[in-house]
Amino acid sequence: MEQIPVKRFPFSPFPIGWYWVEFSENLKRGQLRSKTWMGQQTVYWRDEQGRVCLANAICPHLGANLSPEFGGKIKDGQLVCPFHGFKYNTQGQCMHSLQGKVKHPITLTTYPVRETGGVIFAFWHPEGEEPQWSIPDLDEGNWSIFLHTSREIRTHPQETSENGVDLTHLPYVHGYSNVESLGPLHIDVHHLQNRFRLTRLIGPSKRFCLRLNVQATVSMLGVGFSMIESTMETAGLHIRQLALSTPIDGEKVNFVMAIQMQDIERPNVLMPGLGLFPKRVLNAILLKIFFKVYLKDISQDWDIWENKEYLTSPRLDPSETSILHFRRYCEQFYAPLE
Ligand code: FES
Ligand SMILES: [Fe+2]
Repeated sequence: MEQIPVKRFPFSPFPIGWYWVEFSENLKRGQLRSKTWMGQQTVYWRDEQGRVCLANAICPHLGANLSPEFGGKIKDGQLVCPFHGFKYNTQGQCMHSLQGKVKHPITLTTYPVRETGGVIFAFWHPEGEEPQWSIPDLDEGNWSIFLHTSREIRTHPQETSENGVDLTHLPYVHGYSNVESLGPLHIDVHHLQNRFRLTRLIGPSKRFCLRLNVQATVSMLGVGFSMIESTMETAGLHIRQLALSTPIDGEKVNFVMAIQMQDIERPNVLMPGLGLFPKRVLNAILLKIFFKVYLKDISQDWDIWENKEYLTSPRLDPSETSILHFRRYCEQFYAPLE
């Protein structure tokens, strides 16, 4: 018997917002790449001035695919179509068409791009409207580079983001202790903030381990961008994690996990004797350890995300109303249906 496909989520797979595209280090000047992003075939490149463009991969002249796999090229910072040689700049304007003349304006569909902290984001709106908000400046502060990785997961970005307000799963799935909310969700139009504290032990035993007592702030800007800032004041420890969920094709998301930290100020508080290590070596080692821990913790969510159902009327405990507030916050990122 033929199976009727069931729509997994009662909302669009492509909510309005800023979504991860690439890490800056993977896009050199003059380089052209392609990907399926928000259900669209797209190409992206960096011109000679360092500007990045993300555009639909279909040439508006006669529909050729502009991906490098099919012959698209960058010449002098412009994207050249493999079919009739039209050239496009990073604003998407056609600068060269038949016989070199542009007789009427031809433009590629492009998306607003923001590059900050070594991460390239682009804005998605189903009607092509301009963004009403932006991604925070990730270049500010003495942060290390991001260590990062990504994985395809069969879920929706609203589901991965919901994790950031679901405090009751933290002890159960991730084994954190002393989890305590530090107040109700703070919602300011597109920005959501959730503050809590927790204890995380890292190491083989309770006696020999790093003990992290952190205050964490989860900041969301839309459903595709979550930033978790963890601070342990006593040790002068500041860690920043990104959880970026980008829809690919309506079924899966590209889930990016990135972490960076500032130089630790009082390492002996974390574990006696740590301060004996040379500073640079210690910070590099700690960042690697925290990255490993981040990946281990978040990997515990993957199977749950891939296999859970989205319940529109979940049977929540009265202590879990944050989830409902989060869902109400999310509604603004779906364009009204016709
Ligand atoms: S289809 Fe691209 S130049 Fe003709
Ligand atoms: Fe989780």
